[in-house]
Amino acid sequence: MNKILMVTIFLALASSGGCGNVYSRKDFPKGFSFGAGASAYQWEGAVDEDDNQDNGDITSDGYHKYKEDVQLMVETGLDAYRFSISWSRLIPSKGPVNPKGLQFYKNFIELLVNHGIQPHVTLYHYDHPQYLENEYGGWLNRKSIEDFTDYADVCFREFGNHVKFWTTINEANIYTIGGYSDGLLPPGHCSSRSKCSSGNSSTEPYIVGHNLLLAHASASRLYKQKYKDIQGGSVGFSVFTIGFTPSTSSTNDEIAVQRAKAFIFGWMLGPLTYGDYPDEMKRIVGSRLPVFTEEESALVKGSSDFVGVIHYLAASVTSVTHVKSQRDPGFFTDMGISMKGRKLHWELYIFPRNCFLFCLDKYAIVPWAMEAVLEYIKESYGNPPVYILENGTPMKQNLQDTPRIEFLHAYIGAVLNSITNGSDTRGYFVWSFMDLYELLSGYEYSFGLYFVNFSDPHRKRTPKLSAHWYSAVLKDNTTFLGSQGIAQLQSNFSSPY
Ligand SMILES: *[C@@H]1O[C@H](CO)[C@@H](O)[C@H](O)[C@H]1NC(C)=O
Ligand SMILES: *[C@@H]1O[C@H](CO)[C@@H](O)[C@H](O)[C@H]1NC(C)=O
Ligand SMILES: *[C@@H]1O[C@H](CO)[C@@H](O)[C@H](O)[C@H]1NC(C)=O
Ligand SMILES: *[C@@H]1O[C@H](CO)[C@@H](O)[C@H](O)[C@H]1NC(C)=O
Ligand SMILES: *[C@@H]1O[C@H](CO)[C@@H](O)[C@H](O)[C@H]1NC(C)=O
Repeated sequence: MNKILMVTIFLALASSGGCGNVYSRKDFPKGFSFGAGASAYQWEGAVDEDDNQDNGDITSDGYHKYKEDVQLMVETGLDAYRFSISWSRLIPSKGPVNPKGLQFYKNFIELLVNHGIQPHVTLYHYDHPQYLENEYGGWLNRKSIEDFTDYADVCFREFGNHVKFWTTINEANIYTIGGYSDGLLPPGHCSSRSKCSSGNSSTEPYIVGHNLLLAHASASRLYKQKYKDIQGGSVGFSVFTIGFTPSTSSTNDEIAVQRAKAFIFGWMLGPLTYGDYPDEMKRIVGSRLPVFTEEESALVKGSSDFVGVIHYLAASVTSVTHVKSQRDPGFFTDMGISMKGRKLHWELYIFPRNCFLFCLDKYAIVPWAMEAVLEYIKESYGNPPVYILENGTPMKQNLQDTPRIEFLHAYIGAVLNSITNGSDTRGYFVWSFMDLYELLSGYEYSFGLYFVNFSDPHRKRTPKLSAHWYSAVLKDNTTFLGSQGIAQLQSNFSSPY
């Protein structure tokens, strides 16, 4: 298989006159899924900013336009579509399932499956039922493990005949850091900055991370015990990944990269693969890091059938020794590094709230970062099956999004290189299928293959150049278009805008 792949690539290279990144869909293993995605909160609409409504009202966007959107997915040629279920839409208060919410997801999932599009469903993508925050503090409390498992049970039972790929928690590491160390993401806890009204940055991230791992493992066990034999699906976990390089060749910076990997990847993938946190984290975080009991360790170990990779960024890492500050240590002081991205500074974590990660016109195109991440997962965590659940770049809303094509082209090429070198990567999802409500940056910067006119009451969708490109790639067995192809595409689809 690999030999055949290599030969194909070689021929493609030879015939393209030395341009090193021409490849086609046929170079990917049989069964590899190409898709795109969105999340409930960002696509459906009809959700109050603070999650504290029943979300059942129907003034929404995706919630009403899902039939049209599935049609667009078919036209684009997607094999798979990734989306999340809104816990609070499905179970709006402690107790019974909301029949309207249930029916909405059933209809949507059935429509996808009837059109041959595989649903990849995420159970938890940032939106938390407010009643559980109010009742016991959400993920800070171990009660959330049971409630999450009950919610997962409803989803497996109701949707599992059609859904074969479940992701429990979306980018659990960055959710936890953003929500409980920096306070820039919901629920906005921190003590490391003066901006938050509550929180403890030195303890809460580790408590929440622990509870998320246990909640995932508990849902995964339930699936294996109750559903897997009949439904035959798999349950995975997802992490936000960064391609790290040392900023200098000094030993300290090399060690800092190891530390960054332990804190960003190992924190979650360590327990899932080996049943415990990395030694380095245990040493540095000490008694603030919860300890797995033997039973918990056995529950978490091996509980993820695949690793969901969220990937956008590269960072160069410099070792930093923090003098004991007047404030408590937080996740970043524990990690003891400073990071700089190319065109992207890690300090974006202390940017104003409305600017988190999104107010950049295009991320740097550094596909080696994707290859490094996939290689590291392969080597360090036993080469698990991987689905790249998010990859893409923000731009100001624009139909002529050639830079997005260049970005996707380079990163999909990186995925192919990794597969050729033995990574068990089985799917790739562009973030996002269409422009979404980006909670933290409004509508100005968006990731979509499809343009959504947010001033139009009908929220009209129009394919961007990148949608035409992705579609050409998925349908025609053509080579992934190089720069000449992009120019041709541009003239074929030059639009009135
Ligand atoms: C955070 O928790 C630790 C351990 O319980 C405690 O020592 C520290 O004072 C707390 N910090 C804040 C800001 O509450
Ligand atoms: C390819 O895989 C081999 C063996 O796993 C590894 O030693 C090598 O570093 C990888 N190459 C790249 C470019 O990642
Ligand atoms: C968006 O919709 C508004 C209202 O219908 C319309 O005036 C405007 O021209 C549309 N913009 C684009 C780019 O289609
Ligand atoms: C693409 O490849 C598949 C599988 O090899 C084949 O069935 C299909 O006809 C091809 N499509 C085109 C447009 O060449
Ligand atoms: C552009 O249009 C020409 C003529 O219809 C067609 O041959 C070519 O394949 C198209 N190229 C792309 C990239 O769509």
